[in-house]
Amino acid sequence: MKKSIHVFIFLLICCLLITLVACDGKSGVDAGADKGKLPPTDPSNILVAYFSATGTTKGVAEKIADATDGDIYEIVPSQPYTQEDLAYTNSSCRANNEQNSATARPAINGNVQDMESYDVIYLGYPIWWGKAPKIIYTFLESYEFAGKTIVPFCTSGGSSIDGSLSEIQALATDATWLDGRRFDASATSAQIKTWVDSLIMTSEETDGEKEMTEEIFLTIGDSKIAVKLEKNSAVDALVELLKQDDITYVANEYGGFEKVGSLGHSLPRSDVQMTTKAGDVILYNGDQIVLFYGSNSWRYTKLGTMQGISAEELKALLTKTDAITVKISLN
Ligand SMILES: Cc1cc2nc3c(=O)[nH]c(=O)nc-3n(C[C@H](O)[C@H](O)[C@H](O)COP(=O)(O)O)c2cc1C
Repeated sequence: MKKSIHVFIFLLICCLLITLVACDGKSGVDAGADKGKLPPTDPSNILVAYFSATGTTKGVAEKIADATDGDIYEIVPSQPYTQEDLAYTNSSCRANNEQNSATARPAINGNVQDMESYDVIYLGYPIWWGKAPKIIYTFLESYEFAGKTIVPFCTSGGSSIDGSLSEIQALATDATWLDGRRFDASATSAQIKTWVDSLIMTSEETDGEKEMTEEIFLTIGDSKIAVKLEKNSAVDALVELLKQDDITYVANEYGGFEKVGSLGHSLPRSDVQMTTKAGDVILYNGDQIVLFYGSNSWRYTKLGTMQGISAEELKALLTKTDAITVKISLN
C-alpha cells in the first residue's frame, strides 16, 4: 500500500475516534454549543450556499433550505470534479493538488443573484483533508460579506468542522461567523431542523441584543472618534471594564502603520488571520490595543472600526507625535 493511503486511513481512524467522543449519542449530527445566534430573519434574506462533489453536502443543504425556507444556491465548479479528480489515495489527484496549494482557487460557474439581499448565509462543503475545498475560498473571495452572518456546515467521513474554520473565516473578516456544525449523510430532516431552530434568538435574547453597547469612543488630543464595535467576547469584556471606568493608555508608533499600547487588562482572544485597514481598532496578544492608520496582516481579534474620520485625517492625528495618549470611554 502506498504511504499516502496509510496516512489517509490513519487520519480517518483518528477522525472517527474524535467523532465517537464528540457525538451526542445520536448519529448524524455532531454535539457542541454554537457560538452566537441569529436574530429572527425573513426567509427571503436567507441563502443556503453549498458545494458538494458527491451529493452528501447537497442532501444536508436541501434539508437546511427546507428548515429555514431560505433560497438555495449550488456552488458549481466550472470544471466538474471527476471520480479521478477526487481519488484522494492518489497523492497527485486534482482535489489533493488543490488542497496542497495555498493559491488554488477553482473557478465557479455562475454566481449568486442579488447577494446584497441576503443577511444570513449557511455555507456548506465537504471536508477535504481537514479543510474546506478551495472552491469555497473562491466563493468567499467573490462577494462582499460585511454585515452578513455566515453559518458554516460540513459533511465528512469523520473529521470535525473545527480545523476548516480559521482559514475560511480569514477570507471574510467583515462577516459575523457562527461556529457551524458537521453532519454526516444520515442526518435527518428533524435533526437539521432542531439545529436550525436552536440558532435563532429567543425574544428575550433579541431584547438583550438591542440593549448591547454598539459603540465606544476614543479621545486623542482634541479629537473624539466613535468606534463601531464588533460582536465578540473581547468586546464584551472591554465594555464591562469601561462600565467601571474610562481607560487611558499610551500608544507608541510601530511599523509606520499603527499605534500600539498596553490596555493594562487582558481580554479574551479569538484571533484570526486578517489584513487590517486604516481605522481598525484591534486587540493584539490579548492585552495590546492597536489603532491602525495603515495595513498589516497578522492574527488579531478585531474590536471595532473608527467612524467619521478619513484615512488621511487619521494618519495625521495618530502620527503627530511618536507617543500619543488615548482615552477609551463608553460615551
Ligand atoms: C479529496 C478528499 C479529501 C477528503 N478528506 C477527508 C478528511 O480529511 N476527513 C474526512 O473525514 N473525510 C474526508 N473526505 C470525505 C468527505 O469529506 C465526505 O465523503 C463528504 O461527506 C463528501 O461530501 P460531498 O458528497 O458533498 O462531496 C475526503 C474526500 C475527498 C474527495
